[in-house]
Amino acid sequence: MDSENREVEAPIGPTEATQKFRIAVADRVHRLPPYLFARINKLMYEKRRAGADVIDLGMGNPSDPPQEIVVEKLAAAARDAGNHGYSEARGILNLRREVAAKYFKQHGVRLDPENEVIVCLGSKEGFSHLCLALLGPGDTAIVPAPSYPAHTYAVILAGANVIGLDVTKPDLFLSNIGYTCQNLFPRPKLVVANFPHNPTATVVEKDFYVDLLRLAKRYGFLVVSDLAYADITFDGYKAPSLLSLPDGMKYGVELTTMSKGYNMAGWRVGYCCGNAEILRALGTIKGYYDYGMFRAIQVAAIVALRNTDAAVEAQAREYQRRRDVLCDGLERLGWDIQRPKATMFVWAKIPEPWASRMSSVDFAMKLLEEADVAVSPGGGFGPTGEGYLRLALVENQHRLRQAVRQIGRCLGQAASSRKKGAEDAPQFHEASVPGAGST
Ligand SMILES: Cc1ncc(COP(=O)(O)O)c(C=O)c1O
Repeated sequence: MDSENREVEAPIGPTEATQKFRIAVADRVHRLPPYLFARINKLMYEKRRAGADVIDLGMGNPSDPPQEIVVEKLAAAARDAGNHGYSEARGILNLRREVAAKYFKQHGVRLDPENEVIVCLGSKEGFSHLCLALLGPGDTAIVPAPSYPAHTYAVILAGANVIGLDVTKPDLFLSNIGYTCQNLFPRPKLVVANFPHNPTATVVEKDFYVDLLRLAKRYGFLVVSDLAYADITFDGYKAPSLLSLPDGMKYGVELTTMSKGYNMAGWRVGYCCGNAEILRALGTIKGYYDYGMFRAIQVAAIVALRNTDAAVEAQAREYQRRRDVLCDGLERLGWDIQRPKATMFVWAKIPEPWASRMSSVDFAMKLLEEADVAVSPGGGFGPTGEGYLRLALVENQHRLRQAVRQIGRCLGQAASSRKKGAEDAPQFHEASVPGAGST
């Protein structure tokens, strides 16, 4: 990259009109992969400004509100003058106790709230600072591919190298981890597990972690489990916790969040639990970067964890209904759909002929431009995501039906009353098929 591209411009001072201030940004900024969602976000912004009613299935940003008692507690706690000072960087003890209680309730795991639980400003912050605490130049982390972007970016920002391994077949993921550890020197220091997985919705059973922990023991890496979607599971499936395995606490830490199941994404409440020594290192880094979370939010989070299990379960059932509405609709259009067992996402294969004629970003742009439906292109999650779209179940069932109708109309796909099958091949209007030059 030439020096011109390394510079940002910021006008300053009295001679602003004539003089530019130039400074080279740090190399780590240039190590970040390109942000493939930028074009889509820009178009969505423009469309909305122009008054279009865009159905937004792009981000996994819950649109339902948190429970009223949680909001009320936040308001009451905010009125308490004692809650406005700096808080503890690792979270107040009563919240850490409540997290331990939830782990016991949900996974049968006993945690010491003093040493084995840290409160994070969202699990993304926890993961990023964990990378900073554990990784540096010369280190390598294995991450799932395709990849929730922060799993890649946080490793890169810590100065370390990333190896992305196909996560869609968990057995293959395991054998590739073993092969990489055997053949790479120095060996990978950290392996990120993210099941249920964003974006592909891949899930695993407990046996997977038995094998992963065996590899961790043999090759000496730490497992970081991102269990962000533990609360959003369907059809009776339960997402296991790494920490419920005998060696889980020894070789692992796990991140959980209140963003998804509790509809508290903007509150920025997450947790990191597990190996006490690793958490101490995370706590040290956090202590230098932040002063902890607004105490009123922590108090309200306690109420949410203690009193709203039924609402979290109801929310998961709502996502399951939305999943069915969206999957049924896309199947009727002829799309090849894997019904997810968890997460708030449908990972959908782009149908032919578009899959072979345009990139996932171009296809997502087409849906936004012509159908007023925003989705995330698979390529935004790394090259292995090409050929796919991620659709987030964050609009209500009515809007999802509307999205399917608009997509079908835009692609010229006629909805079939039957489910997908050989005789239900999609029907295309010639005019909607992109030309060869439009990739
Ligand atoms: C796998 C995964 N981890 C972490 C996060 C971020 O969670 P939080 O809001 O707790 O930072 C997300 C959000 O989309 C996610 O998909």
